[in-house]
Amino acid sequence: MNEAQRTLASFVGAYGVTGVLLFTAMLLGHKGRVSAHIFFIVLFLAGFGATLYFAERTGSYYSFDAHAKAIHMPCAYAGTLSALLPVGSGLLHWRKKAPLLVHRVAIVLFLVAFVAASGTGIYMVTTRVAR
Ligand code: HEM
Repeated sequence: MNEAQRTLASFVGAYGVTGVLLFTAMLLGHKGRVSAHIFFIVLFLAGFGATLYFAERTGSYYSFDAHAKAIHMPCAYAGTLSALLPVGSGLLHWRKKAPLLVHRVAIVLFLVAFVAASGTGIYMVTTRVAR
């Protein structure tokens, strides 16, 4: 395995771990286990940061179809920025300053952007060519 393949494998691994952390955090939130929910959200955000780091590095070893990239990049930025919505609303709900409904709407918006970024990203990676 060369450096480019190792970086791509690290990206895929980080992405998978991050997805499992998000799923676990959401399950804990749904069960009302707030401390564990927040702990796993912190782990999820760390995993998300690592995924973005490896995605960035993967992009330096490969080039991608221009159209796929033009569609994916706005989804990726939207997906990243929209993570602030459930984090902010979660903090507000935790401090009893916003109802759970606000947190739920923020979660749905984030998940839509996250799925759009994931779908377009997976397609973009299939078009890769080593630089
Ligand atoms: C990406 C960030 C986050 C996601 C995806 C997320 C997701 C969720 C989900 C799926 C639920 C269950 C909602 C339901 O049962 O309908 C929930 C509940 C909750 N979340 Fe979050 N959350 C996030 C961040 C946070 C943060 C940062 C905090 C607080 C610091 C927080 C505090 C809470 C609280 C207090 C509940 C209610 C639990 C209960 O039923 O008592 N969340 N969250």
